[in-house]
Amino acid sequence: MAEDLSIVQGTKEEKYQSVIPQIKALIDGEPDLVANLANIVAALMEQFGWLWIGFYLVKENQLVLAPFQGPVACTRIKKGKGVCGTSWEKAETLVVPDVEKFPGHIACSSKSRSEIVVPIIRNNKVRGVLDVDSEQLAAFDETDKQFLQEIADLIIFE
Ligand code: SME
Repeated sequence: MAEDLSIVQGTKEEKYQSVIPQIKALIDGEPDLVANLANIVAALMEQFGWLWIGFYLVKENQLVLAPFQGPVACTRIKKGKGVCGTSWEKAETLVVPDVEKFPGHIACSSKSRSEIVVPIIRNNKVRGVLDVDSEQLAAFDETDKQFLQEIADLIIFE
């Protein structure tokens, strides 16, 4: 039985440093991808309270919505479209301080002001992305990039 997450009040670094071992413990020894993605987004949402956090997985050359927390979201995103599709195409993390200034941003929620998308890369192929949206402008920076990439690297496919 999983225990309640221990929520840390503090700097962003302290919050990540607290939640990452908890995520490792949650997914350790569990081979089911959906179960692990679901617990990762739940743990991060509980710790940070962002507007939206979720995964999209590459399926038949599209990004398809996977476990998430927050308002309902677009189900499918094509390569090169929006922030998620661009992160997939470029295979790089995108930090978007103001979504209105990102050409082609897909507004799943009108409340979203800033966004970070981290690709999940295995054997040089993007298998999916981790997307986080905030109601605040410029909510994400190098710290989020570093820690969210670390979290994306924990995920075991197959
Ligand atoms: N804003 C994203 C779409 C996904 S939602 O924010 C959940 C984008 O432009 O790719």
